[in-house]
Amino acid sequence: MRLTVIGCGYVGLVTGACLAAAGHEVVCTDIDKARIDQLKAGKVPIYEEHLDEVLKRAVAEKKISYTADAGEAIRAGDVIFICVGTPPKESGEADLSAIDHVARQIAKEARTPKLVVEKSTVPALTGASLQKALAAYSSSNSIKFQVASNPEFLREGTAVGDFFHPDRIVVGVEDEESAAKLRKIYAPILQSSFHCPIHAGKCPKGVSGELLVTTISSAELIKHASNSFLALKISYANVIADICEKIGADVEEVTRAMGLDPRIGTQFLKAGLGFGGFCFPKDIRRSFIFPRRWALISICSRPRNVSTRNAWTAFSRRYTRPYG
Ligand SMILES: NC(=O)c1ccc[n+]([C@@H]2O[C@H](COP(=O)([O-])OP(=O)(O)OC[C@H]3O[C@@H](n4cnc5c(N)ncnc54)[C@H](O)[C@@H]3O)[C@@H](O)[C@H]2O)c1
Repeated sequence: MRLTVIGCGYVGLVTGACLAAAGHEVVCTDIDKARIDQLKAGKVPIYEEHLDEVLKRAVAEKKISYTADAGEAIRAGDVIFICVGTPPKESGEADLSAIDHVARQIAKEARTPKLVVEKSTVPALTGASLQKALAAYSSSNSIKFQVASNPEFLREGTAVGDFFHPDRIVVGVEDEESAAKLRKIYAPILQSSFHCPIHAGKCPKGVSGELLVTTISSAELIKHASNSFLALKISYANVIADICEKIGADVEEVTRAMGLDPRIGTQFLKAGLGFGGFCFPKDIRRSFIFPRRWALISICSRPRNVSTRNAWTAFSRRYTRPYG
């Protein structure tokens, strides 16, 4: 299929590269012209294991191309993946100005029907707003736009592996036609029928999960509910660590034994600093997840992250001991 990827950062480049490896024709664009020039010159602006070789192969097979001309990119694809940044504002709310900018460009430049897929992490109900924005900005033409949500769960560092062998692919749609297009796009990934750089082209069976078709709102919430649950697990381990410290127990013994119960699991159940990075702390903030008028709803109450003073104090007391 002919696909467009808007935004060539971590998510956009990995998405573009891996979907090109899956056999689709991908055109990538970015507002940052220097980034596009770099890509055209064969330089990859981010480091991700295997990304370089996947891109090189896709370029050689003429499956991927780059352009700084957003209009050209928008007209090239039948399905458009929006992968632009959604940083937090000072208030904690998501800054969706890049999504709005892209919606305007799509509405202005499209000449044929498009399925517009939000891959960026966005607050709940953004899909509905995007649908309205596309209709409003394109009121002078009669192009049909469908909207879908396809949240990204990749982790920086293992992004290519995560994309090629996902635990699950979530597609939120509002009609069967959109679901069919997204199933077709992801079929080679689920069937491992692409050249896999991790397994030298021979992926073991069962290495990829399943594709789940949901409503757009469910897909948006799955991303937030998953992130918040992981944050809660880490925070819970830290609460247990505080209790262990008070009563003279060993938190590693406690969490290891807890994690051996398959209903609990060992991952994200380690006491320590908390969680950090750019995406995780921003994504789980209540003000990021829900529109302002929903401020009373909370998925994750009082998560602890690296910047929380108590977590730092407890961490340094527990782990920063003098030698000797
Ligand atoms: N990085 C991750 O691990 C990760 C994982 C899952 C989801 N996400 C989400 O995916 C989205 C993208 O994240 P990222 O890490 O790739 O961000 P990034 O900052 O690495 O890349 C964003 C890219 O979008 C481009 N851009 C911004 N406005 C644009 C516009 N109007 N038109 C065209 N291009 C534009 C930027 O120049 C940049 O290259 C965010 O919503 C993020 O929360 C990120």
